[in-house]
Amino acid sequence: MAISRDFIQDLHNRLDIEEVISSYVSLKPAGRLRKGLCPFHGEKTPSFTVYPDTRSFYCFGCGAAGDVINFIMRIENLDYVEAVKACAELAGVAMPEDGYDDSLAKRRVRILSANREAAKFFNACLNDEKNRFALDYFLKRGLTPNTIKKFGLGYAPDNWHALTDHLKKLGFSEQELVLANLSKRSQKNNRCYDNFCNRVMFPIIDVRGNVVAFGGRVLDDSKPKYVNTSDTPVYKKGSGVFALNFAKKNNPDRRLMLVEGYMDVIALHQAGFTGSVACLGTAFTAEQANILARYADEVLICYDNDEAGRKATQRALEILGRTSLKIKVIKMEGGKDADEILRTYGKERFNAMITGASNQIEYNLSALQTRYNILTDDGKLRFLSDAAEVLAECTDVEVDIYSTRLANEFGVSKDALLAQINNAKGKRRHRMQSEQKSAQMKMLRESFDIKSNPERRKNLKAAAAEETLIASLMRNPEFYAKLRDKFTPDDFATDFNRRVITLLIELIEGGYQTDISMFNESFSPDEIDSIALIAQKGEETANTLKECEDCIAVLKKEKNAPRRNSKEEMPDEDFSNYFRNKEKK
Ligand code: CTP
Ligand code: MN
Repeated sequence: MAISRDFIQDLHNRLDIEEVISSYVSLKPAGRLRKGLCPFHGEKTPSFTVYPDTRSFYCFGCGAAGDVINFIMRIENLDYVEAVKACAELAGVAMPEDGYDDSLAKRRVRILSANREAAKFFNACLNDEKNRFALDYFLKRGLTPNTIKKFGLGYAPDNWHALTDHLKKLGFSEQELVLANLSKRSQKNNRCYDNFCNRVMFPIIDVRGNVVAFGGRVLDDSKPKYVNTSDTPVYKKGSGVFALNFAKKNNPDRRLMLVEGYMDVIALHQAGFTGSVACLGTAFTAEQANILARYADEVLICYDNDEAGRKATQRALEILGRTSLKIKVIKMEGGKDADEILRTYGKERFNAMITGASNQIEYNLSALQTRYNILTDDGKLRFLSDAAEVLAECTDVEVDIYSTRLANEFGVSKDALLAQINNAKGKRRHRMQSEQKSAQMKMLRESFDIKSNPERRKNLKAAAAEETLIASLMRNPEFYAKLRDKFTPDDFATDFNRRVITLLIELIEGGYQTDISMFNESFSPDEIDSIALIAQKGEETANTLKECEDCIAVLKKEKNAPRRNSKEEMPDEDFSNYFRNKEKK
């Protein structure tokens, strides 16, 4: 066994799950529970639920479930041992010295150190007189030597083995370099060669100061324009934010400016806009939005002035709209991107653009206006009806402000506009309710088919009994003393449930707590979701010793019953009863 159960149990008891989760998700009380917007999938109505009593969380929208350690694993993208370490730090307790497997953690340390050496190497190459053209590239683009130093910019020489050879001399193995995505292995002769060649280099540094990845740009117009580090054990593209390490400091306004490219960020920082960051390459993700929300209250979107930039703005608006962040959009005029506008017009102009940034409603309304010919009555009508849809999502005060504005601008009565907005609001509410309901029903249907238990469908009766028994014992471990002689894990028909009951019995016999936190080590996060779902079933069942005995009887009977021919048991009656009960709730 890796980390001792006593340690995990103690850790779990020390941490206040509500407090830990609160620093990532804004939670509101709902009776004894706490609810918030799920950080693991996009949603507008909170289905993410924290149960302080059982120190667990559960999302009714996506099925994510677990304890505080599991939460940290997912949200910080850590493995089990790393998450335990992070939790130990939060709780202020020391980790047990050794005896646990931290090979992944060790590998990460090696990759980070290879990355750091690579950044040093690229930077030295940039400052090497024989690569003067590379330094000139940055200087010609208006960067000062200070900026180049601050961002640790570099140059990957025009030689496909330069970095690989250098790092191997420093003691890194080829395997480590390939894992770090600094090198690649040739299919032909199995030799390692550099991932970045003849490119100016932008290191991506995380908030803890680690070099986690690189972007490399060609110096001319050849393709591909950028080569970026792909996902590695220390980097996930969808959660990377360039320059957040700088932007999180010196940001008393808690306001971040979100731009598209490396050069935009760097040019903005140089001009004094030190809250600038970029979510690079991939489409903006919910994970990135949640990260921004941790460091800011407001985000200014400042994407390129082209079709792709406008599309990306719409996407970012939608995703950021699911967070608590205040959002504004900067109207880009006079150049294709922030870098170009800054260089052409200077920072005063850019400051004016920031002051003139429109909020989300203004941005959406003006984007709508360009879609119709508002000089015609028909265009006007269609615009106003779409505008009503936009305002239907707004607060009363906002509705008041913008309906007054629109009424004046278009010469229509405010009352008529308000009536249209209210109508849209009603429709929207109805739509949201039915969406929520069907999402919940879908979840229930899927959960009936427990993900991690592929044998379940063929053994529905037995599996249901197994699950009830598991759920009941998790809640009432004291029952086990009376059941010990009546069954063994071998009576279980499905492998997954057998693994669960085996560990559960081990925990009970060892006198440990039986909550979900004790399962993290032996089960994957997906399996934890399934166990949490099974544990939830415990809330719906009788939780009596008699019930457990009935379940055992079912198990024995199923075990001895001849296997049926049908591919799947169809528990039509159970199934529909189950849903009928759920729907009543
Ligand atoms: N990008 C990428 N791969 C590409 C093109 C773009 O990863 N093939 C990412 C880079 O992070 C880039 C950003 O998308 O910085 C914006 O792309 P683009 O506007 O094309 O580049 P700029 O950053 O404006 O680059 P430059 O000003 O140097 O032309
Ligand atoms: Mn650019």
